[in-house]
Parts: sequence; structure tokens; C-alpha cells
Amino acid sequence: MTDRILLRVEDLRVHFKLKHSHLFGPRPTLYAVDGASFEISRGRTLGLVGESGCGKTTSGLAVLRLVEPTGGKVYFDGIDLLALEAEVLRTMRRRMQIIFQDPYSSLNSRQTAGGIVRDPLDIQNIGSRSEREARVSELFHLVGLMPNQKALFPHQFSGGQRQRICIARALALNPDFIVCDEPVSALDVAIQAQILNLLCKLQDELNLTYLFISHDLAVVQHISDEIAVMYLGNIVEKTDRRQLFKNPLHPYTRALLSAVPSRDSSKKKSTRIRLKGDIPNPINRPKGCHFHTRCMHAKAHCKIKEPKLVEKLPGHWVACHFETSDLNHMEDYL
Ligand SMILES: Nc1ncnc2c1ncn2[C@@H]1O[C@H](COP(=O)(O)OP(=O)(O)OP(=O)(O)O)[C@@H](O)[C@H]1O
Ligand SMILES: [Mg+2]
Repeated sequence: MTDRILLRVEDLRVHFKLKHSHLFGPRPTLYAVDGASFEISRGRTLGLVGESGCGKTTSGLAVLRLVEPTGGKVYFDGIDLLALEAEVLRTMRRRMQIIFQDPYSSLNSRQTAGGIVRDPLDIQNIGSRSEREARVSELFHLVGLMPNQKALFPHQFSGGQRQRICIARALALNPDFIVCDEPVSALDVAIQAQILNLLCKLQDELNLTYLFISHDLAVVQHISDEIAVMYLGNIVEKTDRRQLFKNPLHPYTRALLSAVPSRDSSKKKSTRIRLKGDIPNPINRPKGCHFHTRCMHAKAHCKIKEPKLVEKLPGHWVACHFETSDLNHMEDYL
């Protein structure tokens, strides 16, 4: 029997050693990802959210080993990816793809759309020329493009269509897993919905597993089964999507959620929680709970001890020193 879990990430760390700030000083370390753990079941989507610079893209890249993790474990289909030799990793990568925010810059402007989508098949030398062409037509159909658009160049497409080309290219080698890094953030709202619907349809048809990265909880809400909230390189809350929206426990998640417009007009309008100050520098993170400088509930011990991500309620993980009962009570005066 195959394992239900396709991707298991344990204590993932990506620390970047930066250039010397002083001639003889130590090289500063930037803690882009610092102990992230999560897993994704087959055919499911984990949404990874957080403000700019919190380590979302770095986490996605590290999972695919497109940046080398400093520590931790990444198991894909039970295989320890970080232990693989380059050659084996290359073969594994067929099963793991990534799509980015800006479809324009990730497409070669001098190549036709058909050529772009055929590229992975050419590189891996898969099938005959006519079989590859047939596969490209099939992929165009799958993502809602017309076969006669194969001869067009990226600038002849709209933003949404360009993202469709990127998705077709990512699907060419029939992957199991796709990191979707802000795939709709550069698109108009109406087009965002079309691309999100397409990703959902493809997931159902092809049993794809997604790590879906976004700074926008409203977007993640549509597509995710589970959601992990990141702050300064750490996951601070992780649970089922419904639970996160119904009963967010971490003060940071609550602040993020208060900025999401509610579509339910019968609901009492919640007050927008404005976090104090800016995100601290990831080179010099606050001691203790990294969030304490912006948390309106921080107590003395929050400034000293770093909270661990613990299962406060069944399936609901939170990194905060407060007890669940206190966190629930806080809602009264948020
Ligand atoms: N190659 C690198 N060298 C040094 N620092 C890096 C490198 N890549 C990323 N960083 C830093 O790591 C931190 C996390 O960056 P990352 O791109 O993962 O954030 P993000 O959550 O994806 O942000 P955004 O929402 O803006 O895309 C940032 O402080 C960034 O400047
Ligand atoms: Mg990013």
C-alpha cells in the first residue's frame, strides 16, 4: 500500500551566509527558513502564507533542492531527497515541478508557446517528434489553450494565458507534485479565479499535490486543504483550512485574517488588526518569540523563550506561549 503522505518536510533550515559587513567581522547569517516542518498528502494542497520575506519561496525552492537546505529532511514519496546523488535527483525532478508568479519573465520570449511546452520533452528525449507534438497539443487542450496558438510567441498572449503556458510546461513530464509560487499574484482578480479554477480542475483530473505559496490568505483559502502560516522563517500556525478561518489561534494569523474581506455579509465585521512596526530583519531576529515585537499580547517570557510549534487542539499546531483558552479569550479585545 502506498503512503498517504507524498511530501514530508522535517525541521527544514535554509541559512544564507552573507558577505562581510566589516572587513574583519564575522559573516552575518540570514535565517530565511529556520525549522519548518509540514507534510502534504497525495492529491491535496498545503497553502503557505505570510508577509513578504518570511521564507515562502525559499521553502519551496529548498523542497525541490533548487536551493541547498542548511539542515532538515525532505522526504518525497518516502525518498530522502537531500541524500540523493545529482543524477538520481535529476530523474526525481521530473515528478516535481514549480510555477512562478511572473509568467512573462519565466518564458523565453524568442520561443513559440509550443516550443516552450515541448522543451521538457525534448530535453529528456521522450518519444518521437510526432509523439511530442501530440503531447503538446494534449497539454494545450488540458490548460484551455487552442492548438493553433502553439505557433504564437509569449508577447502575443495575455497574462492569464501566459500562466497557462507555464502550467502546461510544468505538466509536460506528468509530475505528481507542483510548487505553485504566487501563481496568480501578478494577474487581475477576474483572471486569478480562472487560473485557480484551472489548477483545481487539473488537481482532480491528474491527482496532483500542490504546495501553494501566497501572501494573500483570500487566495489560499480557495485552493488549500491545509494552511501553514509563516513568520520570519518559522511556521507559527498550521491546520485544516476551515479550522484556520474559524478558529485562528496565533495572534499573527488573526492579524492576517482581519485584513481578509469577509464574503459573508451576515457576519459581524471584524476590526482590522494593525500590527505595530515592520517585520524585523531576518539577519537579526528578536530573541524569544520572533513575533513578540509586534504582538499586542506579548509578556515578559515571550521575549526570552522561543515557543515550539505544538498541537494545541487535534490537528491544530500553534507556536505561541499562551494556552488555547487564553488565545480564545483574546478574541474579546482584538
Ligand atoms: N539567495 C539568497 N541569498 C541571501 N538572502 C536570500 C536569498 N534568497 C532569499 N533571501 C532572503 O531570504 C528571506 C526570505 O526570502 P523569500 O524569497 O523566501 O521570501 P518570500 O516569503 O517568498 O517573500 P515574497 O512574498 O516577497 O516573495 C528574505 O529576507 C530574502 O531577502
Ligand atoms: Mg516569494
